[in-house]
Amino acid sequence: MGKLDGKIALITGSASGIGRASALAFAQEGASVAVADWDEAGARQVAQQIGARALALKVDVSRAADVERMIAAAVGHFGRLDILFNNAGVCVPNLVHSMSEEDWDRTIAINLKGVFLGCKYGLPELMKKGGVILNTASVAGLEGHCGLPDYCASKHGVIGLTKSIALDYAKYNVRANCLCPGTVATNIMAPTLARLPPEERERRMAAVSPPATPIPRAADPSEMARPAVFLCSDDASFVTGHAFCADGGWMGGHIYKVM
Ligand SMILES: NC(=O)c1ccc[n+]([C@@H]2O[C@H](COP(=O)([O-])OP(=O)(O)OC[C@H]3O[C@@H](n4cnc5c(N)ncnc54)[C@H](O)[C@@H]3O)[C@@H](O)[C@H]2O)c1
Repeated sequence: MGKLDGKIALITGSASGIGRASALAFAQEGASVAVADWDEAGARQVAQQIGARALALKVDVSRAADVERMIAAAVGHFGRLDILFNNAGVCVPNLVHSMSEEDWDRTIAINLKGVFLGCKYGLPELMKKGGVILNTASVAGLEGHCGLPDYCASKHGVIGLTKSIALDYAKYNVRANCLCPGTVATNIMAPTLARLPPEERERRMAAVSPPATPIPRAADPSEMARPAVFLCSDDASFVTGHAFCADGGWMGGHIYKVM
């Protein structure tokens, strides 16, 4: 028996990386999955891999009309919604003094407003019978990071938003938590960095450097999918308002090379 047997889940940003691994893991645990992404071809591929219990949807999570349509399409197809995993996000290194207003607005629109919009249109469905929201934040939602000011601001916002939702909607039997990954081996920075001239790309990359973590490697996306399954399953029935780190020990403290 799967941990998500019979559940209807929608995962944004599921054409690649953490979202893709989660869509496959949710399906393996018995859920039907709406695979939503602005990369339509990628979403279709993941849905095909899952088979009959999947639906591919094209969405730009920063656009209200798209998100409203995405939720309606998932509910229209599967009949209801039990799990909403707002995971789509972008991450572009930069510094405040050299960041354009457009760069700032784009990160906030996708990473923070996108989560708000998912919740805004998803909650009325979840409130009907109870359900679960999982929002992908980051360790960058819990502390500052060099070279990622807009990203950090957006992820701190996601955690605050999620905690508020946990308080307001517990009475509807809706749980809401954040997944806070550390470094995961995905292509998150690649599409935007590829568009920059080489010197600008180097300048931006020089600004970011993840710290040494007790587990000294990047995670595989599947190592985020398994905690996501847990947080969305009844195994986590008393867990809400929580920012759950899957970070190789990043938030455990600092490693000093003195021993
Ligand atoms: N990779 C890491 O080290 C890491 C660490 C902490 C948090 N995260 C978070 O994990 C989440 C998933 O990222 P990932 O690492 O799997 O990266 P990824 O690039 O592999 O996946 C992100 C997905 O989101 C989609 N997407 C981006 N903007 C979108 C939009 N406006 N509308 C719809 N889809 C959109 C992309 O097409 C892509 O499929 C993000 O929220 C990211 O901030 C990643």
